[in-house]
Amino acid sequence: NWTPGSLVAKQIERIRERVGNERVICALSGGVDSSVAALIVHRAVGDALTCVFVDHGLLRKNEREQVVAAFRDRFQVPLVAVDARARFLARLRGVVDPERKRKIIGEEFIRVFEEQARELGEPRFLVQGTLYSDVIESGGAKGAATIKSHHNVGGLPEDLHFELIEPLRDLFKDEVRQVGLELGLPERLVWRQPFPGPGLAIRIVGGEVTEERLEVLREADAILQDEIRAAGLYRELWQSFCVLPADLRTVGVQGDGRTYGYVIVIRAVTSEDAMTADWARLPYDLIERVSQRIVAELPQVNRVVLDVTSKPPGTIEWE
Ligand code: XMP
Repeated sequence: NWTPGSLVAKQIERIRERVGNERVICALSGGVDSSVAALIVHRAVGDALTCVFVDHGLLRKNEREQVVAAFRDRFQVPLVAVDARARFLARLRGVVDPERKRKIIGEEFIRVFEEQARELGEPRFLVQGTLYSDVIESGGAKGAATIKSHHNVGGLPEDLHFELIEPLRDLFKDEVRQVGLELGLPERLVWRQPFPGPGLAIRIVGGEVTEERLEVLREADAILQDEIRAAGLYRELWQSFCVLPADLRTVGVQGDGRTYGYVIVIRAVTSEDAMTADWARLPYDLIERVSQRIVAELPQVNRVVLDVTSKPPGTIEWE
């Protein structure tokens, strides 16, 4: 007669025994799985664990700050937040093809992580937020279509030599959330919608990732998140985000002048497992507020559109 709580207590004992006096490293993505896994291991081995959070510059607004505030400030988990923005941006320069973006980001992530592991004296153990559903589906990417090569950036760098600690292997997602709440993880992280490893890079579609485009997309996305949370709809949606067609400009009019600006796409879906998804019927007044705020607050944008495609035939992401 187990509960997620008792299961975690047993895990903590086992981890403590296995780790002994060795060191442990964890690639923290800010997602619920890696966050809960890291907290469990921290309970078990304390400061023998170091978490590494890689800021690749493709994150949402304030994401790094939130992770640092939760882990370093609130839980006092040793955390290295690596500012790798410049090197990811440099490697992505001129890259348009989405699969190349993914490959470059995945490779660069492993490189950064390896460097950190070296600096930490090559810890013997690596924490992974593998869930039961990942285990039974093994081979498949996390609840995702295999049409795309899914580099889960929070995931295992396969060519590194660590022994794995996987404290969530017996749990389903909703149980992981429950454990997260029991461990005091902020609700914001517990209920976070999935966010792809390559981040905003694959939401700047059909073109190169630049600092300017990232800035526009990040701000538009923050407005959408804000309004969706304010409307109390965040948890009902599997994912909600903005997409920026990189090379598209449309004509608009503002004051006395003609403008030529970016288009922002609103994408929101409901889903059970990302294999199929329905476009979300967001309330019109919410859509209107988001649209008005985006064009008012972002001078580079003069048009907002809504994606009304389900999966199939569309995918959730645009590339
Ligand atoms: P699609 O677009 O294939 O997405 O319907 C299904 C789910 O997978 C996520 N996704 C990714 N996750 N790396 C990830 O870690 C990726 O490259 C990637 N591409 C898509 C997507 O956000 C959705 O939840």
